[in-house]
Amino acid sequence: MPAIVIVGTQWGDEGKGKVTDYYAKDADYIVRFQGGSNAGHTIVVGGKTHKFHLLPSGIIHAKKKNIIGNGLVIDPETLLKEIKTLESDGYTVNNLFISERVNIVMPYHKILDGLEESSKGDMKVGTTKRGIGPAYSDKIARSGIRAIDLLDRETLEKKLDYLIQLKQKMINIFDEKTTISKETILNDYVQYGDQIRKYVVDTSLMINDALDKGKTILFEGAQGTHLDVDHGTYPFTTSSNTIAGGACTGAGVGPTKIDKVIGIIKAYTTRVGAGPMLTELFDDTGKHIQDKGVEFGTTTGRPRRCGWLDLVLVRYACRLNGLTEAAITKIDVLDGLKEVKVCKAYEYDGKIVKNFPTSSKVLEKCRPIYSTLRGWKEITTEEREKIVKKGYRALPKEMRDYIEYVSKDIGVPVTLISVGPGRENTIERKARPL
Ligand code: GDP
Ligand code: IMO
Ligand code: MG
Repeated sequence: MPAIVIVGTQWGDEGKGKVTDYYAKDADYIVRFQGGSNAGHTIVVGGKTHKFHLLPSGIIHAKKKNIIGNGLVIDPETLLKEIKTLESDGYTVNNLFISERVNIVMPYHKILDGLEESSKGDMKVGTTKRGIGPAYSDKIARSGIRAIDLLDRETLEKKLDYLIQLKQKMINIFDEKTTISKETILNDYVQYGDQIRKYVVDTSLMINDALDKGKTILFEGAQGTHLDVDHGTYPFTTSSNTIAGGACTGAGVGPTKIDKVIGIIKAYTTRVGAGPMLTELFDDTGKHIQDKGVEFGTTTGRPRRCGWLDLVLVRYACRLNGLTEAAITKIDVLDGLKEVKVCKAYEYDGKIVKNFPTSSKVLEKCRPIYSTLRGWKEITTEEREKIVKKGYRALPKEMRDYIEYVSKDIGVPVTLISVGPGRENTIERKARPL
């Protein structure tokens, strides 16, 4: 299966990094296609934790080529820091390729992200303040700076001559004191250009050549379906297309090349930042999930809001992404609960709603309708190791019932179950017709 897209089916942090790293063993290329350093993907290998914001989660597989596609917005400072951290951990980063066309997050994007957020009052999105919205706005307005521009001082200077004046005015709308300097930005970004030069290539060409040769490519999504700028809980979304279709535009491949789409479903729901979340729990169970699941943002450290699994959201994600299979992660976090709930529909004005509404006013009045399933016992580390060795059938029956319930409801086979953060805490399961 040469081209596989991995996407989050909820509001991010589903464990995309872990699953991508796991499947990277069977791939030749791992490609990020959207987002920026708002993403935080954690992988745990041999007891060591790696957190990536921009680097694809296949990067520690030395022989696999890792690509930052054109669809991202990258902050070179963050990227270079990430590379340095990996190198100080003993890795040689010579398996990285960056698209010439990728847009660059500039200092004024980060300043404006913060200022715009503080001016929004209760319309505040709760962004990661990594400059994502302003950088994507510039891309679409055709005022973006691309990686290729950093490689040529003259081109960069010409663009900055216009942009710095404009951005200074925009900053001063919110804040009269903050100033930006063309010279400083130019010098810093020419330097960044020099440092990333060796990685910058035409990645679409590279990926398509690889596909022609029958290589296996994993496209790693960032954020989650409901943070998609078109289909998510707008305006409480990010600024890119997080859904599987984004892999085509964000990597430069045709839709006919994609063979599989794997949706990552966290066994419960979390959300960072503002916006509707119908199954949010404010009680001890919510706190239990947050503590046990260590639900604090990888990028900003903010506590993640926690609640029961919302199948209305996941079914919508199946539709938007055309999922061919699903992976359920963090199911171990629900171990030891007497009962577990899943939201199968909403109730609005006395009626049953099975499809996710667009109107925020309707959403505000929707209430979750739950099915209650039996919980399963706490599993010790030793028991977990044995279960993983034996495979799916060795999982507690109630946990399998939960997985089957989800699979049946969404109409998608669950082919991977993650029972812990480590690469080894993973159970593969053959796709079965439902
Ligand atoms: P991503 O943004 O989708 O890659 O997810 P994050 O890395 O931001 O958040 C997922 C968190 O859960 C990380 O801390 C992972 O190490 C951890 N994690 C991933 N899978 C599992 C799992 O199956 N069980 C547990 N307990 N933790 C997991
Ligand atoms: P990964 O890839 C969870 C959320 C922010 C905010 C909204 C907009 O780790 O799953 P932005 O900075 O993108 O303009 O913020 O999107 N957000 C994420 N939430 N996981 C992420 O990425 C996120 N990236 C952005 O909290 O609500
Ligand atoms: Mg994350």
